[in-house]
Amino acid sequence: MSNKPFSFDLEAPDFIPSHYDNHIQRNLSNMAGQYQDQEAYEAMVSDEDTLLYQVYELKRPELAGEILHGVSIVHPGKVGNEYFMTKGHYHTVLETAEIYYTLKGQGYMVMETPEGDWAVEELSAGSVLYVPPRWAHRSINIGSEEDLVMFFAYPGDAGHNYATIETQGFRKLVLEIDGQTKIVDNPRWSQPEGI
Ligand code: F6R
Ligand code: ZN
Repeated sequence: MSNKPFSFDLEAPDFIPSHYDNHIQRNLSNMAGQYQDQEAYEAMVSDEDTLLYQVYELKRPELAGEILHGVSIVHPGKVGNEYFMTKGHYHTVLETAEIYYTLKGQGYMVMETPEGDWAVEELSAGSVLYVPPRWAHRSINIGSEEDLVMFFAYPGDAGHNYATIETQGFRKLVLEIDGQTKIVDNPRWSQPEGI
């Protein structure tokens, strides 16, 4: 991999990087067990394996001094009354942070620590979110028609731990109830052990 400086463009309306090395696509079938309404999930998956979100990555060596970065795009939609969202994860190296800059759309970042603290921050075009070390994070698109598009950057050695979230989800769910976006307790959640 070259160690020369480089630049690329992020341009409206799509904000797909003009250069990228990796394109990840996650569909409904990659989210088994993540949505609260299992019946709605099964019905949707058997009908069509809808694309939920995409990530465009610029590859860099996975070293502490590097900064991994790219663009994530969460499409609009719901499973039952729960919005389309990313899987969410802790960083394997817990003491690593992340920055998100929202380029387009409306949403929430749901976050929590192994100690049981939680936070939900709004995401809208032009807002910058700092996710401190130790905070697991999941992005959620609450828009009815628009993509939620964000630029992200995090330390090269962070790594991803999906297993804890896959087991029990996040402490808080973001649902649409009577046409309103609500943050509610996740009944499946309990304090994680041994992260
Ligand atoms: C990297 C990061 C984002 C996410 C992306 C997809 O540390 O937080 O680039 O990877 O938003 O979400 P996940 O990885 O949870 O499927
Ligand atoms: Zn992350």
